[in-house]
Parts: sequence; structure tokens; C-alpha cells
Amino acid sequence: MNGTGYLHRPSSVGILACELYIPALYVEQSKLETHENVSKGKNTIGLGQQRMSICSDHEDICSLCLTVLSRLLDETGVHPQQIGRLDVGTETLIDKAKSIKTVLMQLFVDHDNTAVEGVDNVNACYGGTAAIFNAIHWIESSFWDGRYAVVVMGDIAIYPKGNARPTGGAGACALLIGPNAPVVFESGCRATHMAHVYDFYKPNFTSLYPVVDGQLSIQSVISALDTCYTQFCTKSQMNHESHSHTHTTTLTSREVNLSTFAAVLFHTPYCKLAQKSLARLYLNDLIRACPYIPNNISEKYKNFDLRTTINDKELEREMVEQSRELYEQKTLPGLYFAQNMGNMYTPSVYYSLFAFLISQPTEEQLYGRRILLFSYGSGLASSMYSVVCRKVHECRFTLAQLQRSILRAKLRLDHERMEVTPDIMDKILLEREQTQHKVPFTPKQPNEMLKSGDMYLKSIDDSYRRYYDKFVANDNSERDNDNEKNVQELYTKYFQNCQTSDDA
Ligand code: ACO
Repeated sequence: MNGTGYLHRPSSVGILACELYIPALYVEQSKLETHENVSKGKNTIGLGQQRMSICSDHEDICSLCLTVLSRLLDETGVHPQQIGRLDVGTETLIDKAKSIKTVLMQLFVDHDNTAVEGVDNVNACYGGTAAIFNAIHWIESSFWDGRYAVVVMGDIAIYPKGNARPTGGAGACALLIGPNAPVVFESGCRATHMAHVYDFYKPNFTSLYPVVDGQLSIQSVISALDTCYTQFCTKSQMNHESHSHTHTTTLTSREVNLSTFAAVLFHTPYCKLAQKSLARLYLNDLIRACPYIPNNISEKYKNFDLRTTINDKELEREMVEQSRELYEQKTLPGLYFAQNMGNMYTPSVYYSLFAFLISQPTEEQLYGRRILLFSYGSGLASSMYSVVCRKVHECRFTLAQLQRSILRAKLRLDHERMEVTPDIMDKILLEREQTQHKVPFTPKQPNEMLKSGDMYLKSIDDSYRRYYDKFVANDNSERDNDNEKNVQELYTKYFQNCQTSDDA
């Protein structure tokens, strides 16, 4: 049963391999501005978003998760029997009892492995992080049986028409977790802030959409950042002091501040909020008069009370300006997927990690680099923690392989997606609203965007049981060329036909 060959306590637990989902359809944010009749630049500059992923009716949360999990198994060659734990993080709920994890078990039972611990983790965008923590804890516990853990997280983030709609998106990823990893979750220091807030929640089980207090959600993110960062810095300092006596922790620098990390990455509902989050941590460092900031700059801020500055727009603008260089070095390289796909809820901060990992051309440039991560889920749950990149020894999972998997996803993002107009997007979303509880149901939208290997929703029977299949294209090259040109046309025809049959 010892899939990883470990007989002693595991160390350097982290991400061994990954697989990313890139939805095939997207809408241009600049066209959405015109369509929604908001001022030019509101979505692209004000929110920092370029494109937003859209899912067709062949895609639901299970098809996304099945696709990344089955690709992870195929690409890594890890046999399903070598997996002892599978945790899922999502807030795209389709069932109040049956977990998505149990749907994913389809990929294991055929291989005679039903001994897979773990179920779903739910709390808005935080579920993926909770899933990762569970997987790490299992590997580090006395219950670990030597096999790998897998974490799958994904969401279809959609909002009703109005100011929140451009902050939607979709994505999913599968992470192979184990010891001796090239990206290690650093031990010894983690900060958490949890509270009871109604900033974004989904109380209406008949609706696809959340109830959102947008401004409260932003204030809650900023205040959670302050609390987590303060806690993280204090704990790191304490660990350093205990380290000097006992040599038991992995953290080595005396004071933690933004200069400690090669990258600082955040939950990213929209990219402008990631920039503001970095600016907020810079304000924390200013108030603490961290040594990398010249005294003549920090002097002015030394008596500031963080709690009174949450809604101070002028100070926010000042911090965004002052921290611009830090942002460009440490946060912007992680925003490529978020800019082009939008909010992905649970995997959001992990897509930032993926983007950062491919922002460095070779794996050598990543060795020893520490990355600070902040995960936030409304309601609220938040944590700050760090990972470090390392050269592995006697392990077939390397940083270069991780980079290759991410680059494959980037290739799909850059060259294989198909644009739909905002008008078509509205119709796709309206149809999703109207059919969400319809049974029996068979997806009927054009399926030309499906790629070989994608798992898709085949049908839902009249007992609400969902069936999935792996898509196999006959001739990919021909298909792809035609699709690029035709998808908009196919959708236009499809909705015209729907209209005609409705009228009839
Ligand atoms: N050119 C440039 N910038 C512009 C333009 C323009 N033409 N028009 C507006 N802007 C700027 C605004 O000044 C504002 O900047 P600021 O953030 O620096 O103040 C920014 O664009 C956004 O404009 P607002 O009018 O404040 O935004 P709006 O009322 O449309 O709402 C919000 C934005 C709250 C993010 C909304 O989209 C929402 O509710 N989204 C869902 C909730 C969410 O994502 N919350 C974040 C954390 S919780 C989670 O992840 C789900």
C-alpha cells in the first residue's frame, strides 16, 4: 500500500503535480462594458479584467472536476490505487447530501480502489484551501498509509445581470499532494482569521446566484488580510526565536515582511483587488517601519491605526502608488489566468501560484523562492501561509514538470478558446438558470468546443442522476479550425431555434 515508498515520517509535503481546467468559451470584458452600458474602462481598468470564462451546458461542476482529475492521472501515470485521500473544495453545490468527491470515485472503483478518504469542503472560495490543509494533515498524521493525496477544487462563478456579473469566471484544478515535493507548504507558520459576516452567501437553494454585499466583501477581505498578516508575522518571529534555541522550524529569516517573498499572491475575485491587497500589506509594513522601507517614508505612518483606515480611499490610492513596483515584481506575474478567466472562487489563489511558477523561464530560477499566499472565502474564512520551491532529490515530480503542465493550460488559454458575444453569454446564463432543476435533461448547446479527453455532462435522468462521458473527437485538427470560425454562428443558430420552438 505504500505508494510513495515512504517508511518514515514524511517531510517536505506539498504539490507534486497539477492539472488545470480552461473553459473553452470566453467573453471580452471591453465588449461587456459596451453591452452593459457602463463607462469604458470600468471592467478592464477599474476591475483589471480582460476576459471572462463561460461554461456551456455540457459543463457542470462535476464535469470540470472529473476532467482535471482524469487528466492528472493520465499525465502523471499515477495509478488510482496509489491514491489514499481525495479532498474536494467547491461552492458550486448541486446536491445537499451527495458530495462531488463521491462522483469522482467513478475514476477509482473501476480500478478496485474504494479506500479513499476525504469528502467535500465548503465555505465560499476557501473550500480549496481547507481541502489542501486536510490532505497535508492526513499525510503528516499517524493515519497516513504512504499513498498520495489528491485535492480537486473548482467553481463556476456566475452572477445575475448587474455590477457583479463581470466578476464571474470558472476554473478547476487537481493537485497531487505528497512528500518530497517541488512546491512545499512551509511548516511552522500559518495564520487564520474566521468570523461571522454576511458579505457573500448563497441562502436561496433555488437560485444559481449569491446574495452579495460587494462593498462589505471588499472590506472583509482587507480586514482579514490585516489580521492574518499581523498573526503570520508575529508567529514567524516567535518561530525564529524558538528556532535559534531548538532548530526545529523551517523558517529562517528574523523578521517577515514583503521583501522576504519572491511572490505575494492573493485570492483574486478581480485583479484590481489583488493589487489593493498588496498595497494593504505594504501599509502594514510601513506602519511596522520594516527595514526595506527608508525611514523618511515610513516615519509619516508610524502612528496609524490600521482598523480606522479600511474605508480610506485616498490612503488606498497612495498605497497603490507607493507599492506599484512591489506589485509588479511580486503579484502581477501571478495574475495571468485571473485576468483572462475571471474569478474561479476556490482555485483562484492557486491559479495565481500556477501563473507565478511559469513566470520564471526555468526551474532553477525558482529554487529556494518563498511565496506568500492569502486565501479568502466569504462568510468568512481566511488563511495566510507560505510555500517554497525546491530542487527535488529522488523524486520523479519536478518543478520543470509542474511548469510544463501549467504551460499546456496556458497554451489552451491563449490559442484554443472561442469568443462568444455578451449577448450569447446572457443567453447561456439565462438557459442555465432556467434548466438548473429540469429533469430529465440532456445538454443541447453546440458541443464543438469540447476537446478529446474532456469529461462532459451527458444527461440527467428523471431521478436527478447525472451521467458523464469522456469526449473523443474524430479528427481534432479539422474540428478545431472549423470551431474557431463557427462557434458564434452555431450558438446564434442554437438560440434562434430555441426561440422558434418556444414560440411554437
Ligand atoms: N475607468 C476606470 N475605472 C473605473 C471606471 C472607468 N470607466 N468606472 C469605474 N471605475 C473604477 C471605480 O472607480 C472603482 O475603483 P476603486 O475600486 O478603486 O474604487 C472600480 O472601478 C469598481 O467600480 P465600483 O463602482 O466600485 O464597482 P461596482 O459597484 O460595479 O462593484 C464589486 C464592484 C463590488 C467588486 C462588484 O463587482 C461585486 O459585488 N462583485 C462580487 C463580489 C466580489 O467579488 N467581492 C470580492 C471578494 S468576495 C468573492 O471573492 C466573491
